Amino acid sequence: MNSDKTGMHGVWANRWTFILAATGSAVGLGNIWKFPYITGENGGGAFVLVYLACILAAGIPVMMAEVLLGRRGRMSPIHTMQTLAKQENAPGFFRVIGWMGALCGFFILSFYSVIAGWTLSYIVKMATGVFSGAGSDVAGAEFGGLLSDPLQLTILHTIFMVLVGVVISRGINKGLEDSLRVLMPLLFIMLVMLFGYALTTPGFGDALAFLFSVDFSKLSGESVVVALGHSFFTLSLGMGAIMAYGSYMPVQASLGKTVLAVGVLDTLVALVAGIVVFSVVFSNGLEPGAGPGLLFQTLPIAFANLPAGDLIGAVFFILVAIAAWSSAISIAEPAVAWAVEKGFSRVKATVFVCAFSWFLGIGTVLSFNEWSSYTLFGKTFFDTLDFLTSNIMLPLGGILIAVFAGWFVSQETIKHEARIHSPLLYKLWMFMLKFVSPVAIGFIFLHGLPI
Ligand code: TRP
Repeated sequence: MNSDKTGMHGVWANRWTFILAATGSAVGLGNIWKFPYITGENGGGAFVLVYLACILAAGIPVMMAEVLLGRRGRMSPIHTMQTLAKQENAPGFFRVIGWMGALCGFFILSFYSVIAGWTLSYIVKMATGVFSGAGSDVAGAEFGGLLSDPLQLTILHTIFMVLVGVVISRGINKGLEDSLRVLMPLLFIMLVMLFGYALTTPGFGDALAFLFSVDFSKLSGESVVVALGHSFFTLSLGMGAIMAYGSYMPVQASLGKTVLAVGVLDTLVALVAGIVVFSVVFSNGLEPGAGPGLLFQTLPIAFANLPAGDLIGAVFFILVAIAAWSSAISIAEPAVAWAVEKGFSRVKATVFVCAFSWFLGIGTVLSFNEWSSYTLFGKTFFDTLDFLTSNIMLPLGGILIAVFAGWFVSQETIKHEARIHSPLLYKLWMFMLKFVSPVAIGFIFLHGLPI
């Protein structure tokens, strides 16, 4: 009955478009905002090494599984999981992967859009020289002023959500594909420019030393959990975003190489963003461990005191906004695709998903000001959503995807879809998927539970 829905959303032009789209999804606030600050908080090199190990051991194998399931099902994750669970005679329970993923998408998109809105404000602040010659007091007051203004936050959140909606409503080829073909090269050009700039700053050597000299004495058990959780978030895994993109994959290309390309590109962007951010930070003798404010409080001061810093700073925040934009699109895609399969037009489906997320986002806006004193287990509305998605829903989705693909989908199906020619690599992947990934992700999950 469901088979008439397969392929109704269109397909990517070729394998490269899938790589473009999946990289657009993976590269986002996670790479440019979160990766530098958690690396700063966790002491640098040793943390980076653990993070790379997590990408290889848990990230890549699960990503391959998500793409495989999507490509097999060729529908939104909700319908794909319904069909595949039946076809493979697996417990109907696995359908929860699709439902939980779509719900998780609403949650993530709601706060992701609010934070992406900050980057829009910072493009203007940098370009108009708000931080010229500023010290930490000015930067702190600017950031504090933004967060305490619900109206401004709501306007920025609305602008970003509309940008996301415009692209999604135009569909896979005219919307996503055409936009990504422009946005992604732009993102890489800006990143290369910023890297060139970082090379000329006096802090470049210190940045390299900080990111790449490994000192395990700086690593705690907590750091390992953070690295594992982040490897998942940064690759957009656990909620069906990559599954949805996989379902639009046209050719039977080798899964391993395609996914590896996305993993490598995502990691490269995170490392280069880290080098840029820390070069600027160290050039001003500032602290790397400033936490979530690193990008919005520390970096503007640093830029403001460098030659042409206002201009370079504005380019930097345009880069962050574009990266966030191409990621937000993928967060909404599973729910939009599902609504389209249910008979809504693409435009109506988009309005429904974006409006609902926008509304939920108002809770995040208020959690920084009016509602900041309303907390649940010491967490604000935003902290609660962030925690619920990153530490509970995504890892749970990830384990279920790994277990379903590793233990319940038949070997024939996997072999047919994956097209991995080397028997050794195939065995290694299956071993990771069946044992290593679920255990590693289970570790984040148990750590995340408030017990
Ligand atoms: N990977 C993106 C980032 O690093 C965020 C993101 C996009 C995401 N789609 C997702 C995270 C799906 C989890 C699930 O910013």
